[in-house]
Amino acid sequence: MDRLVLDPTGRDRDAESAELFRRGPATPVDLLGVRAWAVADPELLEELLKDPRVSKDGLQHWPDFAEVVPTWPLAVWVGARNMFTAHGAEHRRLRRLVGTAFSARQINAMTEQVEQLTDALLDELAALPPGTVVDLREHLAYRLPIQVIARLLGLPDTLKDSFRTTVDRVFDTTLTAEEAVANLTTFYGMLDELIATKRREPADDMTSLLIAARDTGDGEDTEDGEHGADGTTGAASALTEEELRDTLLLIVSAGYETTVNLIDNGIAALLTHPEQLALVRSGKVGWGDVVEEALRRDAPVAHLPLRFAVEDIELPGGATIPRGEPILASYAAAGRHPVRYGEDGGVFDVTRPVKDHLAFGHGPHFCLGAPLARLEGATALRALFDRFPDVTLAPGTELSPVESLISNGHRTLPVLLHGAP
Ligand code: HEM
Repeated sequence: MDRLVLDPTGRDRDAESAELFRRGPATPVDLLGVRAWAVADPELLEELLKDPRVSKDGLQHWPDFAEVVPTWPLAVWVGARNMFTAHGAEHRRLRRLVGTAFSARQINAMTEQVEQLTDALLDELAALPPGTVVDLREHLAYRLPIQVIARLLGLPDTLKDSFRTTVDRVFDTTLTAEEAVANLTTFYGMLDELIATKRREPADDMTSLLIAARDTGDGEDTEDGEHGADGTTGAASALTEEELRDTLLLIVSAGYETTVNLIDNGIAALLTHPEQLALVRSGKVGWGDVVEEALRRDAPVAHLPLRFAVEDIELPGGATIPRGEPILASYAAAGRHPVRYGEDGGVFDVTRPVKDHLAFGHGPHFCLGAPLARLEGATALRALFDRFPDVTLAPGTELSPVESLISNGHRTLPVLLHGAP
């Protein structure tokens, strides 16, 4: 069978998912010139995501790394040095440094802040003249997660907008390799500026916490004998300067484009399925159910680059993923797969009996920000529909996808907050 060429614009994701289903649980694809095995079957994907023979460390486990990465537009997804691209003990070391800051308890403590930020954004919208068409992707779905991440990391106001543009471009899979490299250089420049500022003026935020771990060895990772990546012991740094910068890069990037899509997709689904909105309004289902169904049906991360087979992996059905070959987690297709969700996997149904999904991944790399994303999603949806009960899509709206094979949302989400005149 020919390799399926994945469309970098993500223009027709439904057709692409249907083709992945047709080709079987794992199928060779072309990912912007790189050959990978796309896994769309949720049963197999779940197994591979927790299989120790599957690594995210391309430097160690991808023989083509040195040749491909310098000219591949998606290089940052495999080339940055942080928990996202680490394997085994290295992964545990890097994840533990920020893990506690994302615990359910810590995130619960942020509930009030998230509610206040949401209310302030809705106040701004309420002040607009009636009849104004408002793009809710821009004015709610983007703004809330950016503000939350900015607080978490202590981003200065001067850097917020530039981070936004840069992160957008990390998820834009239509860039050339040169454009992607230029974007990364800009991103690193901003992160260096952030680190320098926080080194001078530490505050109560995650950036300062990571800098302290770097500068004083004050990480939570030393108690079990693992140490700094420089291989030293005792008062060694808990992470290298490169890991510090790349961990910040990861949290800024992972922390909002994904959540933007969740809020955008949740609003779009409810506006196009009024009978489902009525179920939530009647109290028959909760906002949490809406969030889970939106995550399942429209996984905010459509495909996730990349994993690598540490040894030959035999698949059920006889095929083998040879050692060293890349594996792509196709979360959007997995969320609608007929083996788990039946033939109506593409239908938005907040009452469906099988609610579980892989939109946050599975196994050791399970999304660290899941409790925060769920809090932001449920808060934004509840507050929007409470405040503007007549909100409706602007007349003539045809929703079109973000140009990306990774980011799964809409380019814009134009609405009338008070309904059609
Ligand atoms: C990892 C999805 C929000 C931080 C992941 C992974 C997925 C994911 C699928 C696993 C990647 C893999 O296959 O290895 C999402 C979705 C979100 C969301 C759908 C919103 C709806 C957030 C937020 C943060 C965050 C708000 C932080 C503020 C992370 C981090 C990792 C991660 C740090 C790496 C974990 C590791 O490698 O051990 N996310 N994410 N995410 N996410 Fe999220």
